[in-house]
Amino acid sequence: MTQKIAVLSGDGIGPEIVEQAVKVLRALDLSLEIQEAPVGGKAFDLHGHPLPTATLALAKESNAILFGAVGDWKYDKLPREHRPEQALLGLRKALGLFANLRPAILYPELANASSLKPEIVSGLDILILRELTGDIYFGSPRGIRTAPDGAFAGSREGFDTMRYAEPEIRRIAHIGFQAAQKRNKKLCSVDKANVLETSQLWRDIVTEVSAEYPEVSLSHMYVDNAAMQLVRAPREFDVIVTGNMFGDILSDEAAMLTGSIGMLPSASLNAAGQGLYEPSHGSAPDIAGKGIANPLATILSAAMMLRYSLNNSAAADKIEKAVQKVLSQGLRTADIYEVGTTQVGTQAMGDAVIQALA
Ligand code: NAI
Ligand code: MG
Repeated sequence: MTQKIAVLSGDGIGPEIVEQAVKVLRALDLSLEIQEAPVGGKAFDLHGHPLPTATLALAKESNAILFGAVGDWKYDKLPREHRPEQALLGLRKALGLFANLRPAILYPELANASSLKPEIVSGLDILILRELTGDIYFGSPRGIRTAPDGAFAGSREGFDTMRYAEPEIRRIAHIGFQAAQKRNKKLCSVDKANVLETSQLWRDIVTEVSAEYPEVSLSHMYVDNAAMQLVRAPREFDVIVTGNMFGDILSDEAAMLTGSIGMLPSASLNAAGQGLYEPSHGSAPDIAGKGIANPLATILSAAMMLRYSLNNSAAADKIEKAVQKVLSQGLRTADIYEVGTTQVGTQAMGDAVIQALA
């Protein structure tokens, strides 16, 4: 059966890096129908909107979306609803992409890139799963008003609402256990149940769901402790599942343990297993068009796409092994270059990965 992939390469380095990932997918000779559409600033220039109707329709009818990056300095003055970043928010919302998967892997060849000592971090391979469509970022009521009562009555106050409904917690918990099953059968749920009611419900429901996954061992941790453990002994984690705000912070912390933004893929999934796959970095306008961007995060995102939305773990493994191989051959783009390695450009890196697939 042919699977359909929407390729939305976007702005800045987006087109250069996505071209490499598409090249790798084509080299695998799978039965994929690959269709491209404009998104972000480029789409605004062409159609007056960062997420044109035709692009959204293509995304909806595809099995998966391979996304580059959006944004550029030249769009900074546009009103918020026309900013390139709105395309990503629009896609997340329209497709219900509630589960954000961000692996943090430190390749042995890049051990010096980490901000932590090798004896603490070498061999790191963890997965942070962040709920993406709920929590305090979306809860209402919210606002800034004159405080009606309390010790500061009469002065301005800002307020937000942290809110999670049972089905929202349940579905992300299932994704967490399923991801743990595909890996080392170890799941750590992160919350702040000692002070937050939302977290107490979160903890209760995750514990309930765990009964359906007897082979996965579940632990709970408070978020402040998790932040500490991530820099003290990061390898003790395998899969971490957490809410939107805690996940926002912990996933950036974990990313820095690997030191190289150009290497980190991500996936955002919905209930139907449809997903949007993109590098964790942005459009890097400072290096766009120079042919020096690192395409590996995008190529690894394509591997995640094969694993999580296209049910083809074998092809995903193949890509991931090929990436390891080019690193062990000493090939590096500028962002991960160190003395003694060979510096290559975006295209050459893509070609090397294809060579290494064989
Ligand atoms: P950025 O991730 O684009 O760049 C940060 C730094 O990392 C820059 O020095 C850049 O050259 C470098 N870098 C990033 N990706 C690289 C790669 N593949 N290879 C080599 N070097 C790489 O973040 P920044 O500068 O904060 O944002 C730039 C634009 O990207 C903004 O318009 C922002 O809104 C947008 N952005 C878009 C995202 C997305 O599409 N998902 C996510 C983050 C930012
Ligand atoms: Mg963040």
